[in-house]
Amino acid sequence: MDNFLTDVLKGLQSSPKYLDSKYFYDKKGDELFQKIMESEEYYLTNAEMEIFSKQQSQIVDTVLYNSDPLDVIEFGPGDATKSVHLLKELAGRKQIENYVPIDISENIISLLNQSLPKQVPTLTIHGLAGEYFEMLSAAHKISSNKKLVLFLGANIGNFKFNEMPAFLMKLKSLLSAGDMVLIGFDLKKNPQTILSAYNDQQGFTKEFNLNLLSRINKELNGNFEIENFEHYPTYDPSTGACKSYLISTKEQSVKIGETLIHFEKNEPIFMEISQKYSVKEIDEIATECEFEVLADFFDSNRYFVDVILKCND
Ligand SMILES: C[S@@+](CC[C@H](N)C(=O)[O-])C[C@H]1O[C@@H](n2cnc3c(N)ncnc32)[C@H](O)[C@@H]1O
Repeated sequence: MDNFLTDVLKGLQSSPKYLDSKYFYDKKGDELFQKIMESEEYYLTNAEMEIFSKQQSQIVDTVLYNSDPLDVIEFGPGDATKSVHLLKELAGRKQIENYVPIDISENIISLLNQSLPKQVPTLTIHGLAGEYFEMLSAAHKISSNKKLVLFLGANIGNFKFNEMPAFLMKLKSLLSAGDMVLIGFDLKKNPQTILSAYNDQQGFTKEFNLNLLSRINKELNGNFEIENFEHYPTYDPSTGACKSYLISTKEQSVKIGETLIHFEKNEPIFMEISQKYSVKEIDEIATECEFEVLADFFDSNRYFVDVILKCND
């Protein structure tokens, strides 16, 4: 809670204003994200689901390159509907010992603790609620096998293009030679297809963004009038940056606890980036970070790629 307040005030007292997208995911945010994933425009889920439901056997052949049993750690699993295909395949081959989902949403971890044992009864699950890297350090106490870290759903796009190498280097520093990372990247494509995915007709993405203001009202004693903000998504095809903003529709002041925040009319709050990549850019960054690219798995439209990277000595 302290971090939430500190981060919110820091973001809203900055110029330009921003909020950290990791705070989208309270219980209502988790539910709205499920609805976004089911919307017609949000092609990302179907594309990655196609990869995991049709190519799980080839993915498992790749990650079992030396047939040691694996521990699978997943960053930000959400409902794990895609990764469960991989977990079933590994469990079927008796090649997985522990599954460690790491999610900042405690709600997600408790839902997974209930749902996964029904789907993969032989799986040993150790859910950890918290930040990716803090919990990865904690996961080392649980896992002594070779590790496969999953980071699906293009969550990696929530880092800016120039922050991605630092994220990969940090991840590599917490892993050992032979460990692997499987990352889902959303690829550059028709700009309109991308923009529509972040502006669904039913308004779930808009509600998802506005829900963070409601969360601040509830948890940090704020008084945002939600109807005074509107959702504004953008996509720049030259950089691949898809960004969401909330725009203040009038000059107004908002109280968060004892702190007063002033908004000009039309002032933006930057909410989230969803960075898109080309295969060439992914290869270049992976090589720069000294990962070996073991394999790329594409969906049939080539909208999305899951890349398996291996840490070498
Ligand atoms: C966009 S959802 C993706 C879910 C899933 N990977 C998929 O592909 O459907 C992002 C998930 O990551 C979690 N998350 C976001 N930022 C996080 C952070 N910094 N540390 C831990 N979990 C985080 C959220 O709670 C949420 O469950």
